[in-house]
Parts: sequence; C-alpha cells; structure tokens
Amino acid sequence: MRWVIACVVGFVVMVSLSASGARAVAAQDDLPEGEGKKILLSSCTACHELTEVTKFRGYYNRDQWHDIVMTMKEYGAPIDDRQVDVLTDYLTKHLGR
Ligand code: HEC
Repeated sequence: MRWVIACVVGFVVMVSLSASGARAVAAQDDLPEGEGKKILLSSCTACHELTEVTKFRGYYNRDQWHDIVMTMKEYGAPIDDRQVDVLTDYLTKHLGR
C-alpha cells in the first residue's frame, strides 16, 4: 500500500513540475525577440512571473503601459529612462490594446 501512495505522490509532483515548466516557456515564446523582451525578462521577472505582465495582453494602451512601467520602476525594477521607453514601445506593440 505504501508504495502505491509514494507512486501517486511522485507522479503528481512530476506532472505539476513539467506543466509549470511548459507554461513558462510558452509565455516567453509568445513574445517576439527584441530589446524589449530582453528588458522584460531581465528586469520584470524578479518579483513576479512574466505571466503577471502577459496576462494583460490587449488591456492597456501606451499611456497605461507607461504608467505601469514607471510604477514598477518605483517599486525597484532595475530599468533606466531609455529602457522605460524601449519597453513601453515593446509592450504597446505586442501586448497593447
Ligand atoms: C521590485 C519588484 C517588482 C519588479 C522588479 C517588477 N514588478 Fe510588477 N509588480 C510588483 C508588485 C508588488 C505587483 C502587484 C501590486 C500592484 O499591482 O501594484 C506588480 C504587478 C504588476 C502588474 C499588474 C498590474 C495590475 O494592474 O494588476 C504588471 C502588469 C507588472 N507588475 C508589470 C511589471 C513590469 C513590466 C516590470 C518590469 C519593468 C515589473 N512589473 C517589475 C512588483 C514588481
């Protein structure tokens, strides 16, 4: 009986691990290459998943993305003024309304 439980637990852990791995890759692959993506991956994934950003696909216009990027900068995202512009353009183009 014990080994059955161990098997089931092992299987569930394995499936949930591989599922979350696949989701992370899918979220990244969805976004076209570019400097904006590099900034996004290096500066915007420290405090939350990339999906916290990509789930707003289609919701915000340029001003609103700019506001979000500035808010995240205030929170401590490591991003300079030039990168704010590059990233805002990127977000507007690929995830904008
Ligand atoms: C220092 C930590 C930190 C970093 C770095 C960071 N964020 Fe956030 N982010 C947060 C926190 C905390 C929240 C949730 C609180 C909130 O919504 O204000 C959040 C929420 C968000 C949301 C959801 C906002 C909403 O309307 O619910 C978006 C979109 C977002 N971040 C984008 C970004 C982007 C783009 C970057 C990179 C420039 C980034 N974040 C970097 C801390 C961070």
